[in-house]
Amino acid sequence: MAGTKAVITAGPTREAIDPVRFITNRSSGKQGYAVATALRDLGADVTLISGPVALPAPAGVTRVEVETAEQMLAATLQSAAGADLLVAAAAVADYRMTDVAAHKIKKHSDTLSLALQRNPDILATVRAAQPGLFMVGFAAETERLAEHARDKLARKHLNLIAANQVGAGLAFDVDTNALQVFWADGQQAIAQGSKQAVAQQLAELIAHHYLKATPAA
Ligand code: C5P
Repeated sequence: MAGTKAVITAGPTREAIDPVRFITNRSSGKQGYAVATALRDLGADVTLISGPVALPAPAGVTRVEVETAEQMLAATLQSAAGADLLVAAAAVADYRMTDVAAHKIKKHSDTLSLALQRNPDILATVRAAQPGLFMVGFAAETERLAEHARDKLARKHLNLIAANQVGAGLAFDVDTNALQVFWADGQQAIAQGSKQAVAQQLAELIAHHYLKATPAA
């Protein structure tokens, strides 16, 4: 993958509720960081767009740190503009506050409703800007894995999608994972293993498909 510019998004996003609270999710960033490291090991020039995580930047990888989905979108659009390959492993918050409270919200009533609005879809926005970019998405699903993954592959115009079963101690915030990878006319399972082992196999599969789709690369 020498000479290939790859952008990876990883980790959760963090959406402020007020100056001291936020909405986030259980993503640790481990799988995305392992994919960035594995693509680096295959010779790619890697930029890692990372939400707030407790992981060090992998050596030799350019890390851009962001908090919100909107910041992740802006950083990804900018980095992807000169790139060949995007792997979106981030668990982007689907919603953010319609209005972030300027001051700490006080506990005046027994119930509290927060008004939320949809975040932009990073993959969809990058695809619209760069129709020729080789794009890999993730699909974390609690049910009907293949059906949801194939739907996302088509709807988001992805080249590959890596699907994993989540919930009940699976995938999020643990050190192991297993993936089912889908593309337009095929699929391949990556068996349960460390996130590093899974990432190495995924990076090889990405490289194989990327080089096949990009004969001049
Ligand atoms: O639709 P869903 O969120 O399940 O799709 C997951 C895939 O889309 C992941 O690759 C994730 O990084 C990406 N995504 C994105 N922007 C969002 C939400 C998800 O790029 N706002």
